[in-house]
Amino acid sequence: MIETRATVLENVRIAENIYSLTFATEQPVPVRPGQFCMLGVTGFPLRRPLAICMAEGERITVCYQVKGRGTEMLARGYQRGHTIPVLLPLGNGFFVRQEEKKVAVVGGGVGVFPLVSVIRAYAQEKEIFSYVGFRTRAAVCMQYELQRSKELTVTTDDGSFGKRGTAVQALMENIGRVKPDVILSCGPLPMLRALKNAVGGKIPAFVSLEERMGCGVGACLVCVCSLSGGAHARVCKDGPVFDLTEVDLNG
Ligand SMILES: Cc1cc2nc3c(=O)[nH]c(=O)nc-3n(C[C@H](O)[C@H](O)[C@H](O)COP(=O)(O)OP(=O)(O)OC[C@H]3O[C@@H](n4cnc5c(N)ncnc54)[C@H](O)[C@@H]3O)c2cc1C
Ligand code: FES
Repeated sequence: MIETRATVLENVRIAENIYSLTFATEQPVPVRPGQFCMLGVTGFPLRRPLAICMAEGERITVCYQVKGRGTEMLARGYQRGHTIPVLLPLGNGFFVRQEEKKVAVVGGGVGVFPLVSVIRAYAQEKEIFSYVGFRTRAAVCMQYELQRSKELTVTTDDGSFGKRGTAVQALMENIGRVKPDVILSCGPLPMLRALKNAVGGKIPAFVSLEERMGCGVGACLVCVCSLSGGAHARVCKDGPVFDLTEVDLNG
């Protein structure tokens, strides 16, 4: 993990309320798919956690939805040439075992962004079947990156783009034909619960969780989540990626 002052290369809108921020770090950073960074936004004591979408040497891209005051400031106040404090890479990330050849990727909303890094990392050596869901056409983004998959299904809640429905529904419509060896997922809790109900325990599946964070490095316990069986884990340090059967998604 390094703490660095990165230089903003680009910060542009890519969909309704969604921005893509590319910055250069002071040194190349090795990043595993599914890892994240903590960005320091001027005026806010707590850094904001964002998944790393793309990493090439010193060049890192994150994509974010403007949600509250921190991300609003990020969208308005940081342009090319500005510097931004960053802590990265953080968390465990996704691992795909050598024998797992067919990988199903299931993402919803901003949960699609860490999965872009999975697709970029594994598209050459694995068969990637991606199922990604957005609220509506205006939120659809990253299609160029998602199309690296062997097969891509985009869904929208209202049917205004791609297939009407959810990413989990699209996965389940295809699961008998595709027979994935492993499922990697990130998205809102209801989506992860639906995934757990549909495939939990039947196919190996790993999910990236989102929790409010303080330090991002395992020290403050702000991000603790419940595991099945009553144990607890820090999402920032022990996760954010967990075995779907091990996390309690009802807590
Ligand atoms: C590991 C991880 C990866 C993430 N990756 C992405 C991503 O790639 N793209 C994206 O758009 N969003 C991502 N998020 C969610 C993102 O961190 C929040 O949307 C963001 O912190 C909101 O900040 P804010 O100041 O705009 O909102 P405010 O509500 O003003 O924030 C107040 C505080 O709550 C925290 N907070 C608010 N919502 C969340 C949330 N959903 N998750 C965690 N902390 C939150 C903020 O960090 C801040 O400390 C990720 C969260 C985690 C934990
Ligand atoms: S955010 Fe501090 S322990 Fe996870």
